[in-house]
Amino acid sequence: HFPKQVEIIEVGPRDGLQNESRFVPTEEKKQLIKQLYEAGFQRIETASFVHPKIVPQMADAQEITAFCNELGMEYIALTPNMKALERAIDAGVPQIAVFVGASETFNQKNIKRSIEESLAECSEMFRHAKAQKKFIRGYVSMCFSCPYEGAISYEQVKRIVAKFVNDGADEISIGDTNGQANPRIVYERFSALKKDFPDITFVAHFHDTNGFAYANIIAALNAGIKKFDSSIAGLGGCPFSPGATGNVATEKVVELFEAMEVKTNIHHQKLKDVANFAYSLV
Ligand code: HMG
Ligand code: MG
Repeated sequence: HFPKQVEIIEVGPRDGLQNESRFVPTEEKKQLIKQLYEAGFQRIETASFVHPKIVPQMADAQEITAFCNELGMEYIALTPNMKALERAIDAGVPQIAVFVGASETFNQKNIKRSIEESLAECSEMFRHAKAQKKFIRGYVSMCFSCPYEGAISYEQVKRIVAKFVNDGADEISIGDTNGQANPRIVYERFSALKKDFPDITFVAHFHDTNGFAYANIIAALNAGIKKFDSSIAGLGGCPFSPGATGNVATEKVVELFEAMEVKTNIHHQKLKDVANFAYSLV
């Protein structure tokens, strides 16, 4: 029961680069995005309208966005609060992504709000974004465990998913932010989500701290998930998740699916060159 095709959403220019200490010059970021676009990605997460003092790497979000609009590509930008959403709308972003942590402590450290406060702000952002006809991605972070709180229950995840669904999210990305999940919990949690929210498109977002990310992808695939976030060259991590390493590496994910005869529509050879270029940036 393997699907014929999956969608790989490249998040390297955002989730990958946001954690790098060297500021990658805007021109190099543009090169990376262009090469990824030419390798065949349907969607790329290109930038983040977070506070530039908090994540300086993303300070050029507006210029990156103008470039993406010139290329005519489909892309996502991260918007942590109303101010970010307004900046993203002004810049002409087609798809936005909000994010809330399933762990209270992580959410406080990441966006300085309680989960309750974040969900209230997200509702307002959803309304505003919908009025502008934007595609809305809702990220739930720390869906399996948290570096501050330990195990995260399914109920904690479900509560946020239910709110996103109620507010009208177009897709929901389930994050193993600190990369500590294993195939069993991944299979169980995605199966439960599919059962509780049968009409919702879920995306699996794995970090590879423990080396289990590829196994976790197959577990999610077996639970019926057909969309996966990954980062070119395995770049990344989250600045507010201590010890978390990069996202699962796009070129390996594509290779894995191709070997299984599951289509990705990504140009594999071009992707290897992009991965080498991405390595050279950090
Ligand atoms: P805050 O300090 O609570 O903001 O930050 P505030 O509303 O109190 O405002 C303070 C000042 O910041 C004000 O300026 C605002 O205008 C300004 P002042 O009036 O003092 O001059 N401000 C902004 N300026 C520019 N852009 C903005 C913005 N917001 C306020 N967007 C905030 C709240 C959320 C902005 C901050 O905590 C923040 O930027 N956090 C960054 C979080 C982040 O980037 N985390 C990493 C991404 S999440 C992730 O990686 C996980 C994911 O990959 C999924 C997974 O793996 O699970 C998505
Ligand atoms: Mg992430």
